[in-house]
Amino acid sequence: MAKLKIGAIASGSGSNLEAIIKSCEDGILKTKASVEVLICNKAGAFCMERAKNHNIPYELIESDKFLHLPREEYDERMIKVLKKYNCDLIVLVGYMRLISKNLINAFNGNIMNIHPALLPAFKGLHAHRDVLEYGAKVSGCTVHFVDVESDHGPIIIQKCVPVYDTDTEATLGSRVLEWEHKIFPKAIELFCDKKLSIAGRLVIVDGDVNL
Ligand code: GRF
Repeated sequence: MAKLKIGAIASGSGSNLEAIIKSCEDGILKTKASVEVLICNKAGAFCMERAKNHNIPYELIESDKFLHLPREEYDERMIKVLKKYNCDLIVLVGYMRLISKNLINAFNGNIMNIHPALLPAFKGLHAHRDVLEYGAKVSGCTVHFVDVESDHGPIIIQKCVPVYDTDTEATLGSRVLEWEHKIFPKAIELFCDKKLSIAGRLVIVDGDVNL
């Protein structure tokens, strides 16, 4: 069976990108998927180094240079690249912007995002800080399908981790990140195996999610 073609979009370090690439090279996605292209919106972001090191083509489409454009027009540029590489599934791996309906529709809703908290709690850009300030005793991470609202679409997998009194943003962040690197490849595997169906807000997973 043909491998699923993944297009990745990132803004930063790209450790989730790397976890997905490694799963495709030599892990649970080895026979199932490949990362075809990375789009990055931030000049100098380390995710591009990671793509380069794995011989994955990348394109920098600097969002700061297109702030005068409506989001749809910026996203058109990304759609063009992702279509050029015939991507079947788009993964947002630390992409710090909202995406337009056009982009979602261009890939029939086959777009996933990872968020470093247990949605719908602690949405937004500072999840770990917000968790600590709130005094929550658990946090975690969420992989979900993307809709036009930020951190909002139907949830595919969540993983819970404890929050300790002594935690800092950094210690909590690294505990959560370890699981991010496992649940994102797993969600992609379930997608490849056609084990995900959506009913309203509910993602029905056919079988067990063994992590
Ligand atoms: C991750 O915590 C992800 O959940 C969030 O942004 C961070 C990106 O990290 N959306 P990385 O670039 O994958 O290392």
